[in-house]
Amino acid sequence: MGSSGRRSDRARHGDPARIAAALERAVLVELPAALPRQRWFGAKGRAISGARLRDCGELGDSAWLALVDVTFAQGPDETYTVPLVLDDDTSRVPGSLALALELDGTPSRAADAFDHPGFCLELLRAFEREATLPTVRGGSVRFLRTDRFPRLDPDASVAPRRLTGEQSNTSVVYGDVLIVKALRKVQPGPNLDHEVGEFLTFRARFPHVPPLAGAIEHASATGETTTLALLQRYVPSHGDGWRWALDQLGRLQPEHVDEASEPVFRDLFRLGAVTAALHGALASDGRDPAFAPEPLTADDASGWGERIAEDVRRTCDAIRARLETLPPAIAADARVLLASEPALIERARDLRLLAAEQCAKIRIHGDYHLGQTLRTDGGFVILDFEGEPARPVAERRRKQCVLVDVAGMLRSLDYAVHTAVSPTGAPSQGGERWVRRANASFLEGYLDEIARVPVRLLPASPSAFTRALSVFELDRALYEVRYELDNRPTWLGIPLRGLARLLARERGS
Ligand SMILES: Nc1ncnc2c1ncn2[C@@H]1O[C@H](COP(=O)(O)OP(=O)(O)O)[C@@H](O)[C@H]1O
Ligand SMILES: [Mg+2]
Repeated sequence: MGSSGRRSDRARHGDPARIAAALERAVLVELPAALPRQRWFGAKGRAISGARLRDCGELGDSAWLALVDVTFAQGPDETYTVPLVLDDDTSRVPGSLALALELDGTPSRAADAFDHPGFCLELLRAFEREATLPTVRGGSVRFLRTDRFPRLDPDASVAPRRLTGEQSNTSVVYGDVLIVKALRKVQPGPNLDHEVGEFLTFRARFPHVPPLAGAIEHASATGETTTLALLQRYVPSHGDGWRWALDQLGRLQPEHVDEASEPVFRDLFRLGAVTAALHGALASDGRDPAFAPEPLTADDASGWGERIAEDVRRTCDAIRARLETLPPAIAADARVLLASEPALIERARDLRLLAAEQCAKIRIHGDYHLGQTLRTDGGFVILDFEGEPARPVAERRRKQCVLVDVAGMLRSLDYAVHTAVSPTGAPSQGGERWVRRANASFLEGYLDEIARVPVRLLPASPSAFTRALSVFELDRALYEVRYELDNRPTWLGIPLRGLARLLARERGS
């Protein structure tokens, strides 16, 4: 859509206040029914009782950055960013948001702005001029830039392209220069990806994350700020780590660990080293209270241990309730788990070793798996510091033991191998051997690099290290068991086998 086209829209549709009033009505009347069909809408299972325009700022002359409050029959409200453009084009993207509007008696339509390249370019221009847009409720929307915002060569392509496949956020890539990650479900206060991205880019100067180039912030009339989007330098890559691992495994026949696998193990060593360097960077500023390492106390360790023990119980209860319905091979693994319930509860106490060995807790990634990395020419880049999506933000910002991240990646490697070999088939001995080698390579790389970090993040004794790591792997695998029970029971074999491996390792040690 060209700018002259928009000007004639404006002439047809009238002044911004009238359009804002029309949007307000459309949000109230039309949005509730359309929300459950949006990929980014996070509360699909909940009964919506209403939607209300919380605030909105006009960008250009036919686009609005709207914030919408959604209320439910039960439970807390949620707030979503819903950028809209006036759009009379009938050839719209199937499934994408479109709300009927009536402007001065003329039927019109507001559509999801991210489907419009013109809007996406308008966003980029707003960053370039560091725009501040006044909003209809007396607040503002501010486009902030950091010094990593590149000088945009007029000849370089910044053609916008919306990424597909993403779920909770909406990302738009500009050429191969920048990427906007628009947050959909938002809340006031620091956004974790922003906070951690800023710390790693500017304070720690950690080279293995995308440099933070800017952010879009909403400030309410009372001064409450909410991050609506992040702007990062685009990192050219061969795809994310999960794709990379599956490609490699597809080519290799992981049933046979042989010399052809060696380059992959070397890469996993590097991934381990980058992970340890990330932890070193996150632990590098003792003066910033949000990031300073703190002693991991006996209370921390017993609190985490009790939570995990409780998770052992509720996971075993969930398995018991479904045991009769499971396929025979999986049911056999499930019985092994049930028989180990008391032993696993006992294991959760091993976290005491972390306090006894005077380890520190720090800010961590918190949702670490292969899909949160990009495979680049130079190695790996780490993305997405929003933490575990299901937990409240305050909890995600808490300092934790670095082994949570290490365990996350080990479990992800296990999933990658079994997905490549046969997610629902019988356990393969070759696959098991491959997982062991992959895990060992990642851990070697991790330990090699963590030795350079001046803060003590891990128990010094190898046996305490292994036992503490096992507890966090246990924690992660229990979560996976509950997830698969609810979503993909035929995949239950993967986490159950992982748990069996942990138990066997313990008997062996
Ligand atoms: N800075 C970046 N450069 C290149 N691609 C990126 C960048 N940030 C995100 N991506 C792409 O978007 C995907 C999802 O990014 P992520 O930050 O993990 O968001 P989400 O919260 O949607 O998981 C990544 O797997 C990658 O393909
Ligand atoms: Mg992600």
